[in-house]
Amino acid sequence: MKKSKKVSIIMGSQSDYKTMKHCQNVLKILGVSFETKIISAHRTPHRMFLYAKKVEKNNIAVIIAGAGGSAHLPGMIASLCSLPVLGVPIESKKLKGLDSVLSIVQMPKGIPVGTLAIGENGAINAALLATSIVANTDNKIKKKLNQWRTKQTLSVKKKPK
Ligand code: RP5
Repeated sequence: MKKSKKVSIIMGSQSDYKTMKHCQNVLKILGVSFETKIISAHRTPHRMFLYAKKVEKNNIAVIIAGAGGSAHLPGMIASLCSLPVLGVPIESKKLKGLDSVLSIVQMPKGIPVGTLAIGENGAINAALLATSIVANTDNKIKKKLNQWRTKQTLSVKKKPK
């Protein structure tokens, strides 16, 4: 049987995990396999290179990379492999994530990074988007994603209380 593709969730610091755990929660609900790692582009550059070298052989369909501040991790990973990379800008203390979102979204042409919203909403949407990518080649996941979306639609009341 063909093994289901995985999502790789990476983040620049332990402090990013409170945001990035929302990715895990969504992927668990949707039955998508994932791995989670801390990789810092500036504090563990060697780890980053080793990860990028191996990631395409590890049955990974898409990478979600969370980073804050100058937030170069998503762009660096995107430059080192050709898997799709979704960047989650972490809400930073000083600039509330404006620095993170601008760093990730303003990749120069040639190496794209899909950029989500700042913080928890971005982490949740990154997981949903990653699931859509996995669902392209996995009907079981597609069905789960569609069921989840139908449930969301049905939860919206026609009138306010
Ligand atoms: C970035 O620096 C990380 O992604 C994190 O968002 C930010 C702050 O890291 P810590 O100082 O909390 O480890 O590399």
